[in-house]
Amino acid sequence: MKSFPIQSELRQSAPLLDAYLSYFESNRLPFTIPGHKQKASRLDAGLGALVDSDTPLYGGLDEIKLTQGVLKVAEQLAAKFWGADYARFSTGGSTHANQAIILALGKPGQKIAISRTAHRSVLSALSLTGLEPIWLTPEIDSATGVPIGIPLSELERVIDQNPVALLLTEPGYLGTLSDLPALIAKAHQHSIPVVVDAAWGGHFGFSPLLPQHVVALGADALITSVHKALPGYSASALLLAQGKYLNLARIEQNFETTHTTSPAGAPLASIDAVRALLELRGKELTEALLAHVNAFKAEVQSQFELPIFLNATDFPPGRFDPVKIVLRANQLGLSGVVVERALEKVGVRVEMADRDTMVFLATLADTAEDFHELAQLLIPILKDQQSTPRPSATSLSWSVIPQIGTSIRDAYFADSEMVNASDAVGRISADLIAPYPPGVAVVAPGEILTPAIVDGLTSTQAAGVRIAYATDPTLKTYRVVTK
Ligand SMILES: Cc1ncc(COP(=O)(O)O)c(C=O)c1O
Repeated sequence: MKSFPIQSELRQSAPLLDAYLSYFESNRLPFTIPGHKQKASRLDAGLGALVDSDTPLYGGLDEIKLTQGVLKVAEQLAAKFWGADYARFSTGGSTHANQAIILALGKPGQKIAISRTAHRSVLSALSLTGLEPIWLTPEIDSATGVPIGIPLSELERVIDQNPVALLLTEPGYLGTLSDLPALIAKAHQHSIPVVVDAAWGGHFGFSPLLPQHVVALGADALITSVHKALPGYSASALLLAQGKYLNLARIEQNFETTHTTSPAGAPLASIDAVRALLELRGKELTEALLAHVNAFKAEVQSQFELPIFLNATDFPPGRFDPVKIVLRANQLGLSGVVVERALEKVGVRVEMADRDTMVFLATLADTAEDFHELAQLLIPILKDQQSTPRPSATSLSWSVIPQIGTSIRDAYFADSEMVNASDAVGRISADLIAPYPPGVAVVAPGEILTPAIVDGLTSTQAAGVRIAYATDPTLKTYRVVTK
């Protein structure tokens, strides 16, 4: 028997956390899955270190027959806290939550209005559902080169095509936000539900110093990764929805269709524990984080003349996540990828780096000391590498305007062949190809490979960015739909 020294206030407010801890505190002789039975250390210490603190939902957090309904109780607490009609906890990340909800939005062949800044999980859901995307192009800020959300005019342009939903990605990967109240009001005027992939926005809504969360702004669904901006277990995610414009029974059906039948207990319990933490201390913790981020940025910025971070003042009020740390490497004339490598040598891993941009993920788990240490490691590297500033460029992920050759689903299931990169231009891609992170498609199945895409992918890769999901990762050949 083992006991966990854990803050009792949180445990009392989080039934799944309590169930997880209670499991390990009880006497047990499991003749159920998981096969490691929390005693794999008898077989090997390393394997035991990996699996002996694992217990599933079925037969771990609850009885095998879910007689206690503890997951439902925790999900209802989350729904209430975020002001939603419905909540589900996923162990499959926002990837699963996005797919579950998109499957519930319409029928194959119907149209859906989607921001082109959508993550690949949204695009793969389109292949699964057969919904046809109407792409909405983000506005690009000329000063910083970053996308600043979908303008209202983009939604107005497509509204006559009767999309079954408006699907937005908010905040975007670099922390910017659309004018959500305007977009939501316009969509609702036409009874169009608004689904928001807020994978990076789980920390919104608990302090007036940060943007409100999208349920509070009137969106019909919010998907967030509890392991990204919030301190949850890897791949834990939360799906919240309102029943006015969305069919909650269909969402439930599709959630179960696409989720594992053996969810691990720790990710589920972590979502519940994070909800309780936000309920008890959300304002205090997010405001402390904001203060730390501001102090960090000021400490590094004080060493340089040109602005080297994206700041809330660069954008209209409320349109930037102020705890997002985005370093503008071009302002110092250096390569984000080179800085990333130098930081790796001193033990720092960053969320994303390409030629012009670096993203450092800051969360409630970071202390003032962590930020100071990062500043002290980063400043000498930046000073050492600094050279002539480059103009702000817009990265490939944000600048492609797709040319459609055939539907995403038809291309996904079509016969395909590999052709040389030079012969691929003008052909229809069978692959989704995206720099990762951010995982935003440069080309999706069914779209035409243009010279800008093929050359842009090659030069992005040459700059040190990982290009993901191409059948041939060298990009010497491309998988295209057979003529
Ligand atoms: C906007 C967006 N949505 C969804 C996802 C997928 O999230 P997860 O890794 O939790 O599956 C990501 C991952 O980076 C993302 O950036």
